[in-house]
Amino acid sequence: MNILHITAECYPIAKVGGLADVAGALPKYQNELKTNSNVVMPFYNNTFTQNNNFEKVYNNTLKLGDQNHNYTILKIEDDALGFDLFCVDVPSLLYKDYVYSVDDTDRFLAFQIATLDWVLTLEKKPDIIHTHDHHTGLIPFMVSQCFKYESLKFTPTVLTIHNAQYQGWFAHNKVNLIPQFNFDNVGLLDWGGNINPLAAAIKCSWRVTTVSPSYMEELKQKANGLEDLLNHESAKCVGILNGIDWKVWNPETDSHIIKNYKKSTIVSGKKANKDWLCKKYNLDNKKPLFVFIGRLVHEKGADLFSEIFKKALSENDISILLLGSGDKTNEESLKPLLTLPNFNAHIGYDEKLSHIIYAGGDFLLMPSRVEPCGLNQMYSLRYGTVPIVNAIGGLKDTIIDIKNDGFGIRHNGVNIEETTKAIARATAFYQNKKEFSNNSKKIMEIDHSWNNSAQEYVKLYQSLKN
Ligand code: ADP
Ligand code: GLC
Repeated sequence: MNILHITAECYPIAKVGGLADVAGALPKYQNELKTNSNVVMPFYNNTFTQNNNFEKVYNNTLKLGDQNHNYTILKIEDDALGFDLFCVDVPSLLYKDYVYSVDDTDRFLAFQIATLDWVLTLEKKPDIIHTHDHHTGLIPFMVSQCFKYESLKFTPTVLTIHNAQYQGWFAHNKVNLIPQFNFDNVGLLDWGGNINPLAAAIKCSWRVTTVSPSYMEELKQKANGLEDLLNHESAKCVGILNGIDWKVWNPETDSHIIKNYKKSTIVSGKKANKDWLCKKYNLDNKKPLFVFIGRLVHEKGADLFSEIFKKALSENDISILLLGSGDKTNEESLKPLLTLPNFNAHIGYDEKLSHIIYAGGDFLLMPSRVEPCGLNQMYSLRYGTVPIVNAIGGLKDTIIDIKNDGFGIRHNGVNIEETTKAIARATAFYQNKKEFSNNSKKIMEIDHSWNNSAQEYVKLYQSLKN
C-alpha cells in the first residue's frame, strides 16, 4: 500500500512542534509494517536543507491565480529517515528560513497545488493521501472537486487534526487561487463566511482522525467554531493516540544528553544530566528540579507561568527551569523571575537542550489548557521524569495520578491554585526517595512507542481500500 503523508513540518527537516515529530516518525513505523509510506513537505531554507543533498526529480510551473511559479520536487539522497522524503521547492514562496508566517495562505496553497500536480505525473500513484492540519487541508477538497485532479478522485484521503485551534482561514476573494472546480460546490470550502481549510478537510476527507481519543470528544464540545461540523461528521471521525519515536527518544542511546542511562543506571544517569543543567543555569542540584519545555502560548497555560512559578517557588524548596519561546508578552512576563535564585529560563528553541532537560529534570510541568495529544509527557516518561499535567486531551489519556495507583500527577483545571497544589504534591512525593526512585524506574518502561498506533492507522487505511 502506497501512503503519501503531506505535511508542513517533519522532523528532523523542519520542526516547530509535535506535528514534526509525528510526521517524522509515523511513516517510519508504518514502513516497518510493510507499507510504502513517504512524506512530502515544503523545502525551507534551513540548516538541515543546507547540509543535506537532494536530487531533482521533477520540475514545472504552477498556477496560483494569475501568477506562475516555478517549482522543483527534490528527493533527499540520504535514506536514513526510514521513508522517502520529497520537498517541494517553490523558490518565490517557500524557500524561507521560517516555517510559518503571515503569508501562509499563498505559500501553503502553492505547496498543495505543486504536490498534486506532481502526484498526477507519478507512475505509481498513492493508494492513500494522508494530510495533516489546515496547512494541507485543501488537498481533500481539490482531489474531490478540482477538474484537473479528476483522476485522483477515488483516492481515499485521511485528515489528522493535530490542533483544531488553527484553521487557516482566508477570505472568499482569494478563491481564484484554487484550481477550477464546479462553483456550485463552493460551500464545501466555507465555514462561517470564510474559506476554512480545516473545515473543508473535515468535510471532504474520507476519514478524520485526532491525535488522542479524548481530544476527539473534547472537539465535539469546543473546537474554535467547528463543534457542529465535527458532530455532524462524527461517523467518520476517530481518535488515535500518537506514539513517540522510540529510537530517537531513548536515554540509553541519545547522543544529545550528557550521560546515557537505562533503568538500572537511572540514578547516576539522571544525576549527571541534572548536575550539568544546574551548573549551567546556576540552580541548586539538591532541590527537586521542575522543568517546562514548549511553546509559550495560552494553550500551554504560559500566560500564568510567572504567577504560578512565583507562588510555587515561595512555598516549596524547589528549582524551576524553562525552555521555550512564543508570545512576546509571555516571554517578557518571565524576565522579572530571572532575579530569583531558584529559577532560570532559556528563551528560544534548542533541540539538544530539550533532550538534556527531559533527562535531567525530576518533574515535567504541562499545565495545558488544550493538549490534543502532547508528546512531552511521553518523552518525560521515557527518561524517568515525572509528568505533572492538567487532565485534558492526550494528557488525560496517558497519565494516571499516583493517588489512583498511577505514576504521574494530574490536576483539574489550569489556574494558579490547582497548578501550585500539584507542584506541592510533587514536592512531597520527592521527599520519599525510595518511592520516588521506584516510580521513575517504572515510568521508563511504559510503552508509548508507535507500534500500536501505526498499526491502527494501517487498519484504517485498509478499511478504505476494501
Ligand atoms: P506542540 O506540538 O503543541 O508544541 P507537543 O507536546 O506535541 O506540543 O510537542 C512539542 C515538541 O516540540 C516536543 O518535541 C518538544 O520537545 C519540542 N519543543 C517545544 N518547544 C521547544 C523548545 N523551545 N526547544 C526545543 N524543543 C522544543
Ligand atoms: C499539536 C498538538 C500537540 C500534539 C502534536 C502532535 O501540535 O498541540 O498536542 O502532540 O500536535 O500531534
